[in-house]
Amino acid sequence: MFDADDLLDDMFTEALQREVMTQDKKAKEAMRERLVAIAPNRQFHLEERCEETQLRYKAIEQTHSLVCAEDVIGREDDKKEIIGFLLNPNVKDNVSILPIVGIGGLGKTTIAQLVFNDEVIKKHFEEKLWVCASENFEVKIIVEKILQRVKNRKPENLEMNTLVNNLWKEISGKRYLLVLDDVWNEDHEKWFSLKNLLMGGARGSRILVTTHSKIVAKITQTILPHFLKGLDAQKSWSLFKKMAFVEGEESKSAYFVEFRKEILKKCVGIPLAIRTIGSLLYFKNSKIEWLSFKNNELSKIPQKETDILPTLKLSYDHLPSHLKQCFSYCSLFPKNYKINKSCLIKM
Ligand SMILES: Nc1ncnc2c1ncn2[C@@H]1O[C@H](COP(=O)(O)OP(=O)(O)O)[C@@H](O)[C@H]1O
Ligand SMILES: [Mg+2]
Repeated sequence: MFDADDLLDDMFTEALQREVMTQDKKAKEAMRERLVAIAPNRQFHLEERCEETQLRYKAIEQTHSLVCAEDVIGREDDKKEIIGFLLNPNVKDNVSILPIVGIGGLGKTTIAQLVFNDEVIKKHFEEKLWVCASENFEVKIIVEKILQRVKNRKPENLEMNTLVNNLWKEISGKRYLLVLDDVWNEDHEKWFSLKNLLMGGARGSRILVTTHSKIVAKITQTILPHFLKGLDAQKSWSLFKKMAFVEGEESKSAYFVEFRKEILKKCVGIPLAIRTIGSLLYFKNSKIEWLSFKNNELSKIPQKETDILPTLKLSYDHLPSHLKQCFSYCSLFPKNYKINKSCLIKM
């Protein structure tokens, strides 16, 4: 069937692409002219690389994008401990709260998901709710999000009073599990007014709060927080190998082993850093490429245990330039914003 909207969309996108290519070409020519003009007086120390074409070509083969339970390495003890807390009948409060604390990328969300989807937990709680709380920690918004989870649809634009009544009806007397993922709010007052609304659950209800902030943990905890640690060297290495090469690629693994210590030192046991470096090396097949990466990039990362941004930036640095632009463009959207694909393409 003929769809005029689709056709218009296609024409629009095509025209946009043509325009971008023309602009791109002009910009490149202008840049080349400027470089030629200033070259005699300057030294650029530029290094010739063939990385871009290589990444573009190989990115299609990339298979390590999603994590499912089998892909999570070495969190058995954490999982056991957290589940122990969730099932423990001997806690003093009706609704008790456990913060899971650790820096970004350490795997707080992942461990919470593992626990949330565990069969024993599914059977134990009457209601299980997952709310992402990273942005806009307004009580009204959180209550709306909880109701949306319970009812599987967005609540209408209701007054706070009605929302609170609805929430009360849904959770009162029920043994529920609520995960508040990625809480940044360090404002006591806001937390206490939300907490008051959540205290109506049946005895045994639990709230898991994941946060990078010890202050948040201190405000929210009713029992001592679970401090997530980095993966130990052996587990870090298993995850790294999984990310860096396909099983059975023994020759590649042999020369990685030589640099094992160096890689692990940069990743400090943080899964996100391990995954980032591992997937970058997935594309480097010869020892020469790997050595160049080690000497030019890896060794220059100022590694602190509390900041993995320099490591993560590597994955940005390795994007081909056309994708760098696209990636940066996405930073215009707020965190957790649901981006409409066709709208983004048109923009
Ligand atoms: N134990 C693990 N094994 C493998 N991958 C993991 C593990 N923990 C976390 N990850 C991965 O690392 C990334 C960061 O984890 P995430 O749970 O989002 O961290 P946080 O919530 O602490 O910022 C995700 O891609 C996740 O899939
Ligand atoms: Mg998280």
